[in-house]
Amino acid sequence: MAHPDFDPPDRSLIPQTLWERGQQVAAIVNSRWRSRPVAGLILGTGLGGVARQIQVQEAFDYADLPHFPHSTAIGHRGRLVCGTVEGVPVVAMEGRCHVYEGYSMEQVALPVIAMAALGIETLLLSNASGGLNPGFRSGDVMVIEDHINLMFRREGNSTAIGFRHRAPKSTYDRSLIRQVIRIAARHGFSAYPGIYVAVTGPNYETRAEYRFLRRIGADAVGMSTVPEAQAALFCGVRTLGLSIITNVARPDAPHVVHAEEVIAAARTAEKKVGTLVLQLLRHHATAGA
Ligand code: HPA
Repeated sequence: MAHPDFDPPDRSLIPQTLWERGQQVAAIVNSRWRSRPVAGLILGTGLGGVARQIQVQEAFDYADLPHFPHSTAIGHRGRLVCGTVEGVPVVAMEGRCHVYEGYSMEQVALPVIAMAALGIETLLLSNASGGLNPGFRSGDVMVIEDHINLMFRREGNSTAIGFRHRAPKSTYDRSLIRQVIRIAARHGFSAYPGIYVAVTGPNYETRAEYRFLRRIGADAVGMSTVPEAQAALFCGVRTLGLSIITNVARPDAPHVVHAEEVIAAARTAEKKVGTLVLQLLRHHATAGA
């Protein structure tokens, strides 16, 4: 299903060279893998479990794909994996790149453009984030309803990806958000809808910054997702973003976050995110969508 805000997708929002680069990557993938993927997965923190569920048919090291951002800093293998999950053809990024590693918004967006050129209809993203909403607990899962972009990156005015004088209506797909909330409830946990604020990092926030980000209306803060979600929107791909709350900011209370706490929280939430993604794909398979 095309994104309700853009039907047909408005590719004029994507610089021509970026779209052509995405098509070059897609052509290389298609030379070895003929299926059309239904969904794209960006396996940020929290999708490790899903990565293990992929019946891998082909895999491409990022370093072997033209224009692809690749980095030794991402702590993952850095592969584009093609295969099936629950019988649904998917293309997945094992390891993502961030703006704080020195990549431009366009470089970070390129893999999504390539996935769109391969034909994905849906993009499922996950990330690790810091909770700003005092109601959150470590290990909670937030479904991104909307975002605030504080990345402040606009490379090359004339070619920058983005809307000119136009407000996006909805970057994150309403019906996927509703489905995920229902799936979570059926499995005995909550997926809380909330607002994600993206910063460039790489440092975590000062107490004053956490306070500020909460006041401007965000429920969680992280350093990814926005470039990819925007690219998906411009390509007419529906997007779901899931944030794992690894730590909750308590700027007005003395509280030190311990690494073990964060790791334990990520593990708990990883199971939940895995359930949500697998159930969504299963639904896709049975609905024949
Ligand atoms: N801030 C920014 N990014 C993060 C955080 C945080 O507190 N936790 C996990 N990713």
